[in-house]
Amino acid sequence: MTVRQILKMGDARLLRIAKPVEQFDSAELHALIADLSDTMAAANGAGIAAPQIGVDLAVVLFGFDHNQRYPDAPPVPRTVLINPQITPLGDAEDDGWEGCLSVPGIRAMVPRWSRIRYTGVDPQGQVIDRVAEGFHARVVQHECDHLIGKLFPMRVRDFSRFGYTEVLFPGLDPRSDD
Ligand code: NI
Repeated sequence: MTVRQILKMGDARLLRIAKPVEQFDSAELHALIADLSDTMAAANGAGIAAPQIGVDLAVVLFGFDHNQRYPDAPPVPRTVLINPQITPLGDAEDDGWEGCLSVPGIRAMVPRWSRIRYTGVDPQGQVIDRVAEGFHARVVQHECDHLIGKLFPMRVRDFSRFGYTEVLFPGLDPRSDD
């Protein structure tokens, strides 16, 4: 429907705890999801969360077959996930590079749980209950962090691996991280 403006780090609206969705399959919810989809596509995002367009609701969208911002990432099933909950499965963590549409031009090595169970509902209110690992698990954790006011720099432990995308990944298409 509409490509919306993406809020950038420093905007206090990115720091809120998002409210749960209570009405499913509504015109408002479908309009929000259409806007998230259009905005993510326009920015070549791997995922997007409602707070990034200033909407204080627990809704995230993620997934792609191929993503030019993360050209080496395996496909992730396209999913609208509402009111999510994440449970780590085991203590193992993986380090991986992340960026964020709200933190343009920056990448960092971020530790995430290697394997998670995530639950929530889809736009019709039907239960989603999945186990994920690897980049899929990383994307879910990153997007769900937006619902609790966390941006990836807040998860960085090693700031020697934090920098400008154009410096860290000089071969990456600059249009993929503007
Ligand atoms: Ni993000």
